[in-house]
Amino acid sequence: MNTQINIKETLDWYIWAGVVETCADEVCLNSSSDNLQFSLSVPKQPLPVTPALEKSYIAPSPVKISPHLAAFDNIAKNARELCSKASSLPELRELVQQFDGCNLKKTAASTVFGDGSPQARVVLIGEAPGADEDRIGSPFVGKCGKLLDKMLAAININRADCYITNVLPWRPPGNRTPTDEEIAICLPFLKRQIELIKPDFLLLLGGIALKSLLDIPDSISRTRGKWLDYVIDEQKSAQVLATYHPSYLLRSPSQKAKVWSDLLRLQKKMNNEE
Ligand code: URA
Repeated sequence: MNTQINIKETLDWYIWAGVVETCADEVCLNSSSDNLQFSLSVPKQPLPVTPALEKSYIAPSPVKISPHLAAFDNIAKNARELCSKASSLPELRELVQQFDGCNLKKTAASTVFGDGSPQARVVLIGEAPGADEDRIGSPFVGKCGKLLDKMLAAININRADCYITNVLPWRPPGNRTPTDEEIAICLPFLKRQIELIKPDFLLLLGGIALKSLLDIPDSISRTRGKWLDYVIDEQKSAQVLATYHPSYLLRSPSQKAKVWSDLLRLQKKMNNEE
């Protein structure tokens, strides 16, 4: 048996099967998505790929355990109940770290909780940790984070005076878009952070933050730059502005002007000039 050929065939098979990234020592089938992940290390016993098998090969259906919606409702309910027990951000962080109800935790290296001032007037909300955030364990510390820091500095906001968090505390494999179920399960964590901080303003970065927090059908491109309301509790609402996500700006720099005008609106409102 020619081992080198088998290694190549094995890797080709992984690529053909849709693997886009290696992130753990073991093969990992994620039950909530069709993401298959594998290690770079050569399997101890390479998969036997014979020419005959190659020709007639039918891809195995991805492991899809489509749990019943009620099961998700139950997990989200558990998450809500858990969150209500937290009376401070450190307590909430601890509870989120212990929570095992979201599949994403199995493939993530870190639980990326929010970061910043508990007295922040403005809370910035992204989508989910990326590779750098997953490695380091803090939100917006990679390329997107550097751009976000510049965006804030441009309107004289110091990152340390804000609170920055994400809809999801765990990185979806390969940065894929989170599923509605994953969002529903993790949303109580985000909402509780907002309840504990009670900020005056929310800056939603991108469409996932927008659709997760506000029940509006419009896309981010139609909603960005407009003032909206988010009811925190009976006593307090926050004024909400949605804008494009920094990762979108890295891909489409021509959109920066729109975000710049959104940020100016936020600055004016925070300074009572609008
Ligand atoms: N993108 C996000 O939405 N959040 C992060 O923390 C990093 C990148």
